Amino acid sequence: MSSAELRRKFLEFFEKRGHKIIPSSSLIPDDPSVLLTTAGMQQFKKYYTEPALAPAPNVASVQKCFRTSDIDEVGDESHLTFFEMLGNFSFGGYFKKEAIGYAHEFITKILGLEIEYVSIFGGEGKVPEDGESEKIWKSLGFKDIRKFGRKDNFWGPTGKEGPCGPTTEIYINGVEIWNIVFNEYYQKPDGKLEKSKIRGVDTGMGLERLAMIAEGKKNIFETDLFAPLLVLLPADLKERKRRIIADHARALAFLISDGVRPSNKEAGYILRRLMRRLISYGMGQEQNLFEAVVKNYESFYPELNLEKISNVFGEENIKFGKTLNKGLAELQKLEAVDAKAAFRLYESYGLPFEVIKEYTPNLKREDFEAEFQKHQEISRAGQEKKFGGHGLILNTGELKAKDEEELKKVTRLHTATHLLQAALRKVLGEEVRQMGSDITAERTRFDFTFGRKLTPEELKEVENLVNDAVSKNLPVMMEEMNLEDAQKSGALYFFSAKGGSASGGKEKYPAKVKVYSAGDFSKELCGGPHVSNTREVGKFVILKEEAVASGVRRIRAKVLD
Ligand code: ALA
Repeated sequence: MSSAELRRKFLEFFEKRGHKIIPSSSLIPDDPSVLLTTAGMQQFKKYYTEPALAPAPNVASVQKCFRTSDIDEVGDESHLTFFEMLGNFSFGGYFKKEAIGYAHEFITKILGLEIEYVSIFGGEGKVPEDGESEKIWKSLGFKDIRKFGRKDNFWGPTGKEGPCGPTTEIYINGVEIWNIVFNEYYQKPDGKLEKSKIRGVDTGMGLERLAMIAEGKKNIFETDLFAPLLVLLPADLKERKRRIIADHARALAFLISDGVRPSNKEAGYILRRLMRRLISYGMGQEQNLFEAVVKNYESFYPELNLEKISNVFGEENIKFGKTLNKGLAELQKLEAVDAKAAFRLYESYGLPFEVIKEYTPNLKREDFEAEFQKHQEISRAGQEKKFGGHGLILNTGELKAKDEEELKKVTRLHTATHLLQAALRKVLGEEVRQMGSDITAERTRFDFTFGRKLTPEELKEVENLVNDAVSKNLPVMMEEMNLEDAQKSGALYFFSAKGGSASGGKEKYPAKVKVYSAGDFSKELCGGPHVSNTREVGKFVILKEEAVASGVRRIRAKVLD
């Protein structure tokens, strides 16, 4: 049975049993607590607590997923970064009996496969054993029911909080095929479990593993999901490398098509590592690999975009291609590569961990990550010192090249943000107070207290006031004084509840503070940096005004060159 048929049969089976079919969501999730979509339930997470929002009480999907947790295993028989997850879900509809019944029927009757054994949650801590699932499996004639603890048979939540619960898993040929989660609990951000009001079902079955078994193959790479990619690879490459290339090529094609772009942080950093690994294996020019991915998957995933994939990969190939050989030469010169040396190779030549590890198998990911983390903290602290105030962190890990340009832009936006706050107070009243701000080289984002949406006229007036102040060539002056005097002088100040110190609040400001004023238009406590005359700010444009919380509005604005 082909993988296309498996997808179709799965969705058809659940549709016939009252499930609404929902398309896969993007690999870039709505949920900001995770970098990439890791499970089918992700797009449905909120329905477990608010089922009224769900498009239907029971749904099924084939979801694009990406997990970095298995990246070191990729190359063996069954591990992947990107994979497709077949899943059925219920938000307060059916529960254990139906969920286990459906899974059993689908595997044994529809696919005609034999289940080797199943596992259930055996109880741990305050969470009791899942005796109900055991009974259900027994009633279906199962004897080999294995019991495990939280590590193996309890799933979720994704991110810091959310629905989670005991699982029951189906095994064939020693491989876990299907994970069926019973969301009976809700985990709070502090790790505490609460019994949830609504009982939910969340299941996940890896299509690649299922295809391996249904197609009678020895490993996932022999299935029709990968075979068309592997035939394109040079025969003299080691099997492990061939598999890594196939996995990464497929993963990056999907990531790029969903809008991820290479960078030095978060999802972009993951994508960059995948691309650089392929390039380091000599695959920088292999466009036909991506053609094969698109061809093999586009009928189910029409969002795949060969042009985008080729362009983004091509650019990275040019960029990384310049330093790759130098980096590899450096690497080979080194007698021992510890985490520090590895990080230097990454920083100077862009060699990702995975590539360095090929040459130095003893290198540990945790040590490298620790080094990476340390560096990010140092550079962040440097940034904060350099750019000061507003709790500002430049939105970049790439400090060197773009530095000057970005600093200039940020400086202009910093002063613009002061003018914006002053203008808002003039138009809307003195009760407007800063609630937060975030400035990047592209834009400023300013949060402030105000009870309703601004009218277009008010927004225009605010924008005009700022531009008036800009065109008046007001000098921007800085004066150092102690906090009390600054407050008495009427300078605005922002006490963040999330200040750096544990106590938050006032301690955010040192005893001596800087007060920046732009003529008599604005006067504010701030660490800077600021332009020396408002004309340097340039034309100020409000991009958007919206609510962020009750009584808090957000304005995004930029300055034009
Ligand atoms: N959400 C569960 C998993 O990812 C089904 O395994």
